[in-house]
Amino acid sequence: MGRENRLSAVAVLPQGLEAAGCDELSKLGAHEVRPLRRAAEFQASMACLYRLHLQARLPFRLLREMASFPCQGRDDLYDGIRRALNWERWLHPSMSFRVDVTGSAPGLNHSHYSALQVKNALVDQQRDIWGERSSIDLEAPDLSLHLHLNRETAVLSLDGSGGSLHRRGYRAAMGVAPLKENLAAGLIQLSGWDGSVPLVDPCCGSGILLIEAALMALQQAPGLGRNFGLEGWADFQSELWQEECERAQQRRRRNLNLPPLLGIEQDPLVAEQARVNIAAAGLEGVIEIRDGSFTEHHLPAGPGVLVCNPPYGQRIGEEEELDHLYSALGGFVRERASGWQLWLLSGNPKLTGGLRMKASRRIPVSNGGIDCRWLHYAIR
Ligand SMILES: C[S@@+](CC[C@H](N)C(=O)[O-])C[C@H]1O[C@@H](n2cnc3c(N)ncnc32)[C@H](O)[C@@H]1O
Repeated sequence: MGRENRLSAVAVLPQGLEAAGCDELSKLGAHEVRPLRRAAEFQASMACLYRLHLQARLPFRLLREMASFPCQGRDDLYDGIRRALNWERWLHPSMSFRVDVTGSAPGLNHSHYSALQVKNALVDQQRDIWGERSSIDLEAPDLSLHLHLNRETAVLSLDGSGGSLHRRGYRAAMGVAPLKENLAAGLIQLSGWDGSVPLVDPCCGSGILLIEAALMALQQAPGLGRNFGLEGWADFQSELWQEECERAQQRRRRNLNLPPLLGIEQDPLVAEQARVNIAAAGLEGVIEIRDGSFTEHHLPAGPGVLVCNPPYGQRIGEEEELDHLYSALGGFVRERASGWQLWLLSGNPKLTGGLRMKASRRIPVSNGGIDCRWLHYAIR
């Protein structure tokens, strides 16, 4: 990759998945990948940035750095933004935009206020050029801008995703406390499941862990078929984009026969939602959902991998009820899953004790702000 074609960018990641995210970025061709808190920075060619939008499963968003400038306060921010890009080229008044801000700088401690300052600089610049200004659109903007204030430096980036990348489009139906798709994909990646042995989720909810696992094994690109903000960028290269779309399509393993992927869900309505999601993801016949409690079911011939995100009991009173569930789950795996691996997402260490098993690995991850552990048990 020639230096002149190199872009600096940041992938925003779920907390705890920084290392896994870096791995994924490198495998897809990013260079100089370095973990940050809840993010990773990297260098990429434009082709690689397009590829990441189409194929990366772990990031929430990908931010392409466009300019950075010293920022000691509101005036620096206003002037810096006006000069940061050739706005005549990048932001015509017919385009809507939005601005998100993270971090702080001297006199700029409130991200909402900083975002207003960026907006004012942009619309003033537009009025000077065209005598009119863009409208703001928070839902589906034509240009999505991101400003990061890092003490005395401001970094202006473009968000190429146009809405969080965790929304794959297959989840019409939500179960109770669903995992985000990118977190689910990261957990599967951490489990090391590679599509060669059975995968079972005994408390499968809306089926996200199984769906993300199947999509990963089939190498189905999560971004194919969706619209991206980057398609509206002034320097968008449609041929290059098309090439990357074709490349992503060709990776799909069409004739791969996967081992059994099985979900068990005791709430019949939630089980039905899982089936709807599976169909929407094009995975009918690949994942089976059974109604009822896992205690009533047998596992397919193994050994294989169990993945599980049981309820944590955030509300008072629930914990006691859940003690029984965790002790039943412990009994179930010890009796029926000898030789299997179990990966369990725990948001409550007291409950996990009820399994009566010792975890061999504990990986900290955050699930929607809840401090969790992705626990690994080798079942003897
Ligand atoms: C936290 S949710 C799982 C969420 C899932 N990972 C998702 O993203 O949709 C836990 C699920 O376990 C189910 N459940 C609880 N006890 C169960 C049991 N004994 N057998 C099967 N499912 C059970 C609940 O109905 C609930 O849907």
